[in-house]
Amino acid sequence: AQPLRIAIAGLGTVGAGVIRLLEANASLIAARAGRPITVVAVSARDRGKDRGIDLAPYAWEDDMAALAGRGEVDVVVELVGGSDGKALELARAALEAGKPLVTANKAMIAHHGIELAEIAASHDVPLKFEAAVAGGIPVVKGLREGAAANAIERVYGILNGTCNYILSTMEDTGADFAATLGEAQAKGYAEADPTFDIEGVDAAHKLAILAAIAFGSRIDFAAVRCTGISRVRAADIAQAATLGYVVRLVGIADLDPVEGAEPRLLQRVRPCLVPLTHPLAAVDGPTNAVVAEGDYSGRLLFQGAGAGDKPTASAVVADLIDVARGDTAPPFSVPVDQLRTLAPADLGQR
Ligand code: NDP
Ligand code: HSE
Repeated sequence: AQPLRIAIAGLGTVGAGVIRLLEANASLIAARAGRPITVVAVSARDRGKDRGIDLAPYAWEDDMAALAGRGEVDVVVELVGGSDGKALELARAALEAGKPLVTANKAMIAHHGIELAEIAASHDVPLKFEAAVAGGIPVVKGLREGAAANAIERVYGILNGTCNYILSTMEDTGADFAATLGEAQAKGYAEADPTFDIEGVDAAHKLAILAAIAFGSRIDFAAVRCTGISRVRAADIAQAATLGYVVRLVGIADLDPVEGAEPRLLQRVRPCLVPLTHPLAAVDGPTNAVVAEGDYSGRLLFQGAGAGDKPTASAVVADLIDVARGDTAPPFSVPVDQLRTLAPADLGQR
């Protein structure tokens, strides 16, 4: 069978992880995809950087967006990051060239996902972003496919590995916030700008994407009310423990019914007191967990590694396998032109 030939933009934690996974599990992946998945071209900022992987077999492209125009490239994988800039330029170029796009970039999808889905639909090519939400957990597939028959009533969870690592480490060791943030950065969990992690913005990006999938609505990142963890102190965590709670950064999206009209969408990210009896209380380290409540499925719990090179690469390559198999499912739970607009709720009174 003809290999699926891919270009990878971004060779950091995730990009290098994807190359390592494609090499390590090549025959298993080829068997499941129905054909080999082969890297043919790559791009990053610094060609000379030692990444611990051999890039010699792949063509190097200085002009990242030009990856999309290379004749030998079937699929573009964007692992650069950032809502705009190079990542968005490449994503648009790939889809406009009629090439499938696989990305781990939640910031870009939260801000531009609808536009990109419209371009993808107009060229009849897939747009895939499993890795953008909760790293290695197949929650996008789980909600879009596994829970497809359900009306989802609520979706919530721990969506940022850096924050969860910080909060659970502070809980275990009593260490202060700054020291544990440094550890999370060193382990490759944090975003290039860790402010996005600790102020809840990264979790808000993911929540906005999940809400769109769960409720068949247009992504509305601007409407997410967001409070991060930078003001949580070790003493707050110790006090919560004496009352039978742990502190977790939780993103919650649900629908507020409005008589005679579409419901309003409530989306918020904030540090919450989670009772020790709730499954989210046992979620430690960089682990993420998402709970979805469906009218027929009941409560679904998705849990696993939310960050790091291997889990995130696992999700990226799963998307590539879908593309290799000819998957043409819409990126959200319904085709982009059927996504509904849900007015954001005014949370001022809540
Ligand atoms: P890194 O910062 O480790 O890697 C980013 C890569 O993009 C680097 O190779 C860098 O080049 C390249 N790059 C960045 N800016 C530019 C630019 N202006 N021009 C050219 N190349 C550029 O990021 P991650 O691998 O951690 O993250 C990649 C994406 O995956 C992001 O969207 C992130 O949100 C997402 N993600 C990350 C997870 C994680 O655990 N790390 C988990 C889930 C999603 P160079 O190396 O030469 O500097
Ligand atoms: N910085 C993110 C986190 C990476 O810590 O969860 C995974 O999306």
